[in-house]
Amino acid sequence: TRNVIIDCDPGIDDSLALLLALNAPELNVVGITTVCGNVPTHIGAENALKVLALADRLDVPVYLGANRPLKVDYVSAQDTHGEDGLGNSHLPAVTTVHAGQDAVSFILDTLDEDPTTSILALGPLTNIAEALQRDTAAFAAVDQFVLMGGNYKSHGNCSPVAEYNFWCDPDAAKMVFDLMPVPIHMVGLDVTRQIVLTPSLLEYMKDINPEMGSFIEKITRFYFDFHWQYERVIGCVINDPLAVAYLIDPTILTGFEAYTTVVATDDVARGESMVDDHHFWHRSPNSFVSTDVNVEAFWRLFLTQVLGATEP
Ligand code: BDR
Ligand code: CA
Repeated sequence: TRNVIIDCDPGIDDSLALLLALNAPELNVVGITTVCGNVPTHIGAENALKVLALADRLDVPVYLGANRPLKVDYVSAQDTHGEDGLGNSHLPAVTTVHAGQDAVSFILDTLDEDPTTSILALGPLTNIAEALQRDTAAFAAVDQFVLMGGNYKSHGNCSPVAEYNFWCDPDAAKMVFDLMPVPIHMVGLDVTRQIVLTPSLLEYMKDINPEMGSFIEKITRFYFDFHWQYERVIGCVINDPLAVAYLIDPTILTGFEAYTTVVATDDVARGESMVDDHHFWHRSPNSFVSTDVNVEAFWRLFLTQVLGATEP
C-alpha cells in the first residue's frame, strides 16, 4: 500500500474522490488537508469529516490549510457545489475536530517522517505552494505527486482557457510547476470531462448499495441541475475521483511528458495551463499531461471499491 496525503476542497467531486481513496486497499490515507476552493477551508474540513464518518474512518486526521489564495482575492465555487459544498444536502455535522496543527506543517512533518509519501492535490494549490516555499527539498523523494487541475486541448471551466483549481490560485499553481522537484502528474479537464455520472449509473449505485448510493444521490442532485443548466450535460462531470483512480491504477490514463507552466497574471489568461508540447522553450519536462482515459476501467474501479459491486 502507498501512503498518501490528500489536499482538497470538498466539494462534491472531492468527496467522491475521498470515498474512493478510503476504500482502496492500494492506498493508506495518512491525513486530509483542506484549502479554500470550492468552499472556504473550514467548510471543506467539515465536509471531509462528514465523508470520514460515512466511511467509518474518523481515525484519519483532517487539517485546516490556507484561507485565501497567495495573492488574488478568493472566489469560491459555491454556485457549483452549493453553499454547504455538498450540493446543499445539509448533512448532519460531525464534531470531531483535529486541532493543533495546520495543513502545511502536517504535510512537511509527514514528509520528514516518510519522505516517500505520495500527494494528491484536488483543490487550488495554495497549501502545496506554501509547503514547497518553506522546504522544497522535503518533496524530493515524494513517490507520486498527482493533481487534478489544468487543461491541455480542452476548454476551461471558469474562463475560456482556465480550469478552476489553477484559476482560483494561479500564483500557487505556477509556483508548484516551477518548484516541484518530482514529476507532476496532471489530471486535467481533457480526461476528467469524460467521467460523467449519469442518472442510470446513479440508479445502479442505489440498487447495489442503497446507503452509499443515496448519499451520492443526495450530494450530486444539485450538480446534476447545474450541468444541465450550463453545459447541457445529462448527469454530472466528476473530476477529482479520476486523480485517485490514476494513483491506484496508472494504466487508466495515457499521455505524454512535457514542460508545463501556468499563467499567473490577473488578466484574461489567468490560470491557463501552458503545455510546451512542441519544445519551444527547450526546458526539461516537469509534468506528465494526461490526454486519454479508459472510462470503463474508471467506473469498474469506482463501482467495486466504493459501492461494493462484484465483477461480472
Ligand atoms: C476542479 O474544481 C473543483 O470545482 C472540483 O472540485 C475540481 O477539483 C475542477 O475544475
Ligand atoms: Ca476539488
